[in-house]
Amino acid sequence: MGRHLICGESDIAAGGMLKATVNGLDILVANINGNYYATDDTCTHSGASLSEGTLRQEEGEGGGMCGTIVCGWHKAEFDCATGKLAKFPAPIRDLGSYKVTAESGSLFVEV
Ligand code: FES
Repeated sequence: MGRHLICGESDIAAGGMLKATVNGLDILVANINGNYYATDDTCTHSGASLSEGTLRQEEGEGGGMCGTIVCGWHKAEFDCATGKLAKFPAPIRDLGSYKVTAESGSLFVEV
């Protein structure tokens, strides 16, 4: 496990997603209102790249913004912050979730 430079903060617009490969693992990094989250990029259903799907932003219970990653193939939904499966008719695995830190305009992921 280590800390890896992914990109600059300005490389991911608010509401956007980016795919990066770290040690052979495809990671999705999402920007929800200036908060960054990282999960596996590979859908646990049939292997779609989730960064090619959509990121839905909505207001959470506490008034902050939260996000849902929606797979572009069969519409499985995953919580952006935790990687947990949020909606799908079949019981598929959650995504791995990784810590993101922003430092001096750069984003680092711990993988
Ligand atoms: S590959 Fe993602 S829902 Fe089927």
